[in-house]
Amino acid sequence: MDTLTKEKTGIENDLMPLLGTDYVEFYVGNAKQAAIYYQAAFGFQWVAYRGPETGSRDVVSYVLQQDKVRFVLTAALDPEHEIAQHVALHGDGVKVLALWVDDAEKSYNDALSRGAESARTLETLTDDDGEIKTAAIHTYGETLHVFVERKNYNGVFMPGFAARTPNKRYPEVGLRFVDHCVGNVELGGMNKWVKFYQEVMGFNLLITFDDKDISTKYTALMSKVVSNGNGWVKFPINEPARGLKKSQIEEYLDFYKGAGVQHIALATNDIISTVSQLRENGVDFLYVPDNYYEDVLDRVGEIDEDIKDLQKLNILVDRDDEGYLLQIFTKPVEDRPTVFYEIIQRKGAKSFGKGNFKALFEAIEREQALRGTL
Ligand code: FE2
Repeated sequence: MDTLTKEKTGIENDLMPLLGTDYVEFYVGNAKQAAIYYQAAFGFQWVAYRGPETGSRDVVSYVLQQDKVRFVLTAALDPEHEIAQHVALHGDGVKVLALWVDDAEKSYNDALSRGAESARTLETLTDDDGEIKTAAIHTYGETLHVFVERKNYNGVFMPGFAARTPNKRYPEVGLRFVDHCVGNVELGGMNKWVKFYQEVMGFNLLITFDDKDISTKYTALMSKVVSNGNGWVKFPINEPARGLKKSQIEEYLDFYKGAGVQHIALATNDIISTVSQLRENGVDFLYVPDNYYEDVLDRVGEIDEDIKDLQKLNILVDRDDEGYLLQIFTKPVEDRPTVFYEIIQRKGAKSFGKGNFKALFEAIEREQALRGTL
């Protein structure tokens, strides 16, 4: 079976209107140090903080921002705290994919009425800058979706957080917004979670890649991409498929101890400039062999960029029926081979091509072989 199905997105009858990704929250072992990594390597700005100095006795959080991308890095101050235990089990990883909504109460109640499991009931947080409403539901693994309503808030992030300006401002690298967030789920879990996003969250199935599309000599995986009504929020879901050796999705599940976020794709308007700066800042990217570039233009057609620049930086090119896209993948950014980043520039393409999967997964396999986990 060699299926590549693409279904239409549509905002008519949008069951769950979303304004975009509000923030991504990571639970980490040492938020202070992780904050410096994201500032120095990825060009984020430190904008807000909570911790003992602001009245938060058991948790510290650093809020970092670059254009519309907002990361929250959170650590516990007590080993018994659930955040410390989450980090002990999973390593540093993504806990929350927060969704920006116009009405948090309605979004939450609608999700529950369609079968979502509650993680946190509606809370209204207030300070001098106004009010924020949040509520949370469970998704795959221990990951949560928090609905965030901020239309009556003028502060920098949320009540409970104090605005901060760092002593040193690192140069931004041109990251603009979260393009998509990918989940790795257990064998057999993909269709369950696709159904969740379709039925509970009102997402559409955008594209399906089966194990014929995404296999190398050794390993395989399957992936379905769901997208919300206006197309601004996309969640690809991967599950391992049978191959000669261990699937890279299995490697993730083994190290993360369950389902979780595999990668976050961040969009730029100028991938050559962004990736050049990231490399200069010390970010490690996956290696793409030179032979990838020999026939890539036969496959994707004409592009605006000089292929030599792409080859030098190891940037991949792919195409859907509306245009093309440029993408590159970092190595994992945690000690465990779990979370990594994609940098993406879309030039017309709204979906995903399948041509890059083989190159990407062969690149990951070379890293797996080095780790002895292939
Ligand atoms: Fe991706």
